[in-house]
Amino acid sequence: MKKVKIDANLIPQKKLNTGDKIPVLGLGTFGSDTYSNDQVAQAVKFAVESGYLHIDCASVYGNEKEIGQVISELISEGTVKREDLFITSKVWNNMHGEGDVIASCKQTLSDLQLDYLNLYLVHWPFPNYHAPGCDVTSRNPDSKPYNHHDYMIVWKQMEKLVEMGLVRNIGTSNMTIPKMKLLLKDAKIKPAVNEMEIHPHFQQSELYNYLVDNGIMPIGFSPIGSPGRPERDKTANDTVDIEDSVIVEIAERLNVHPALVCIKWAVQRGHVVIPFSVKQNKIISNLEAIIQDPILQTEMDEMSEIDKNCRLIKGQVFLWESANSWEDLWDLNGEIVE
Ligand SMILES: NC(=O)c1ccc[n+]([C@@H]2O[C@H](COP(=O)([O-])OP(=O)(O)OC[C@H]3O[C@@H](n4cnc5c(N)ncnc54)[C@H](OP(=O)(O)O)[C@@H]3O)[C@@H](O)[C@H]2O)c1
Repeated sequence: MKKVKIDANLIPQKKLNTGDKIPVLGLGTFGSDTYSNDQVAQAVKFAVESGYLHIDCASVYGNEKEIGQVISELISEGTVKREDLFITSKVWNNMHGEGDVIASCKQTLSDLQLDYLNLYLVHWPFPNYHAPGCDVTSRNPDSKPYNHHDYMIVWKQMEKLVEMGLVRNIGTSNMTIPKMKLLLKDAKIKPAVNEMEIHPHFQQSELYNYLVDNGIMPIGFSPIGSPGRPERDKTANDTVDIEDSVIVEIAERLNVHPALVCIKWAVQRGHVVIPFSVKQNKIISNLEAIIQDPILQTEMDEMSEIDKNCRLIKGQVFLWESANSWEDLWDLNGEIVE
């Protein structure tokens, strides 16, 4: 494939409530069951060589060592400067105890071969562990519902990481409005971002507006509707964004894949997106999508009408034994389910 390098100055950046800037598009790095750690690391290498500056990592993805090796080489050979990169990682659910968050962040920094992270997130607001690849119906007897006292043990360590200079921005992921309200009441440093599932069939407008009103930037994961997620994470009622007739029609007008319409929609709506691919043509076209051929305002209006409230990453594996269903994780009645 012909090498393309997109001028980083063309990639819009969003200002966070700390004053730091985040590029509106980053590369996701969750290879799931499909791609090896080395394939994902090579995708990071290709992406940065092509102009990506923002990479979304997590310790649970199991590939930070390989990604770190690649980033270190890109910096030492002069392809990119550390200060131009925006690197995110996340603390996993089994590292929520006193001292664990700081230890986990230090391990991530060592694996990524970095001395600071631009952004560190609490991956899920539950301390619940499940074995990788386990069946979605399995329940861990040690799993617990949300507990705000326990969450603040995590958050205080997140704040400490900022004081220690190991992390520039801290944020949450997979939060709800009731949980966020409690955090905003008790946090010394409020979250700069909330990473959450957002795609045209799952627009989450109420939470989205709440975050924006409180100066918290939404980062949308699974922006294309995660078509490559494992079969065990699919259910019969799931809808498919890239097959939606409104999206397909806009894609036909622009002569692009419907995935790119999803990415344009996200950036034009005003949030940050982190699509995943290890395929070079997709990595390039996802970045080009945000600087070429915007969607028309009339098309944005049409897309705001196709929300199906269809959550794809339901989180069943985090359920505690007495929970009724995955809906209990998401506080649908406006109150935290215990
Ligand atoms: N905070 C959290 O709890 C959380 C949860 C889930 C995900 N995430 C993050 O969000 C990232 C993205 O989420 P995701 O991987 O679930 O979903 P996604 O980005 O919506 O979907 C990725 C899939 O879309 C396909 N794709 C990508 N670009 C395409 C294009 N231009 N044309 C056609 N198909 C395209 C890829 O296909 P190929 O496989 O063929 O390349 C890949 O299988 C993850 O990698 C991870 O970093 C975070």
